[in-house]
Amino acid sequence: MEDDFTYVIRKALRGLNLAPGDAAARAGLAESEVMGLIRGTFSKDAASRLAPVLSLKPEALAGLPDYEPNAVDLPSVERLDMAFADGQVNAWLIRHDGRSMLFDTGASNSSIALALNAFGAPHLDAAFVTHDHQDHVGGLEEVARRSRVLYLPGGSGHPIQAGDVIAIGLLKIHAFDLNGHCAGALGYRIEGLEKPVCVVGDALFAGSIGGCPTETYLTALELLRRGVFSQSDESVLLPGHGPASTVGEERTSNPFFP
Ligand SMILES: [Fe+2]
Repeated sequence: MEDDFTYVIRKALRGLNLAPGDAAARAGLAESEVMGLIRGTFSKDAASRLAPVLSLKPEALAGLPDYEPNAVDLPSVERLDMAFADGQVNAWLIRHDGRSMLFDTGASNSSIALALNAFGAPHLDAAFVTHDHQDHVGGLEEVARRSRVLYLPGGSGHPIQAGDVIAIGLLKIHAFDLNGHCAGALGYRIEGLEKPVCVVGDALFAGSIGGCPTETYLTALELLRRGVFSQSDESVLLPGHGPASTVGEERTSNPFFP
């Protein structure tokens, strides 16, 4: 999992611009109890009382230490799981009906080259970028060299924006607005695979969201509700870090969506 409960609580405090002491007072907790949660001492009782103050779903926050989405098994979707800093970053390779496309490019040219070679993908029909953060665009040069078309949100090359629909073989890729974690971020809904698939970049992780400053926090949540949680429960979610999930599982277990 990309985030544990400490990150979720810190992201909510930052998003709502709340100091731990203020949140504790509103929840009827001692500041030391909230600090304990932030530092990694889990208490189901304290988490359940703090959750409503942070507009988090109490059962989901209390259940987060045990949450892990079910493994997603879609034959045409492969996760390129690459080491980055002290964690990892994903790119997603989709091969369907003789076409191949990549979502995000990893943190460096060498890491994406290694991953694509390991998966036997020397050439791509198209590549799409979710947002302009180094761990997602670091391999841009290598991917541009391998791909017939490279779609960059608002960028050079083939710009793409929310509302655009790209047809690749039998698939339709719908770009939609996922601003918040990063200005100009896009999500991609893919139609035509065995199940509906949504590439969400760092806007959403299994059990969490990407960090947002206070200025964009509520917009980020609203855009996720509109663009992702409006989809069917079986829709598969492919995030920029951590495991894949589904809309149904996140509806129940992601604390940010009460
Ligand atoms: Fe990011």
